[in-house]
Amino acid sequence: MKFFIDTANLNEIREAQDLGVLDGVTTNPSLMAKEGITGEEHILKHYKDICDIVDDSVSAEVIATDFAAMVSEGKALAEIDDKIVVKIPMIKDGVKAITALSAEGIRTNCTLIFNAGQALLAAKAGASYVSPFIGRLDDICSDGLVLIEQIVSIYDNYAYETEVLAASVRHSMHLIQCAEIGADIATCPLSVITALLKHPLTDSGLEKFLADHKKGNK
Ligand code: G3P
Repeated sequence: MKFFIDTANLNEIREAQDLGVLDGVTTNPSLMAKEGITGEEHILKHYKDICDIVDDSVSAEVIATDFAAMVSEGKALAEIDDKIVVKIPMIKDGVKAITALSAEGIRTNCTLIFNAGQALLAAKAGASYVSPFIGRLDDICSDGLVLIEQIVSIYDNYAYETEVLAASVRHSMHLIQCAEIGADIATCPLSVITALLKHPLTDSGLEKFLADHKKGNK
């Protein structure tokens, strides 16, 4: 399973990249605003800065919501760098924009997916990635992981090339369960990735190894 980091914070992206396990970055307008990135020029420059840190796949979301404007904004984003994936919301004009951008060889990530029908539509439109938001489903007492299972199974039935990018991943168990189900990618905050490092028996075991080594070398 590929690991993407879900942030627009350059320090966190660098830290994840330095760990050597990062496969890409997802952003959204809320995450950009959280970092204080506003104004078209500043936003485009920030996407370029992110692209300069990672090896591939930086999802940059369009703000437009009508077909022509989404396509034109998507093309402008794609021109920033080959690593850019244009993120498009699951709305009617969004599906049309995904079809148009895919036909021109521009990679897309269909976002705000909350049911299997939306995921099927995005795949038929030729989306490179589909982003089901599992944490937000859990928030409303609906099982986000069941949705990942459904999408993985539907895509397998027809060999769709669209990759299942589990989003709104809130904790390490989400990440592990996504891997068990067979999601292609999970995107999450840095803290969820670093939480995978932790086990008290690892810490106490290492402490004992080092103490025994010290004793043996006296
Ligand atoms: O990738 C989607 C993500 O940014 C949403 O996460 O935690 O706001 O539901 P969250």
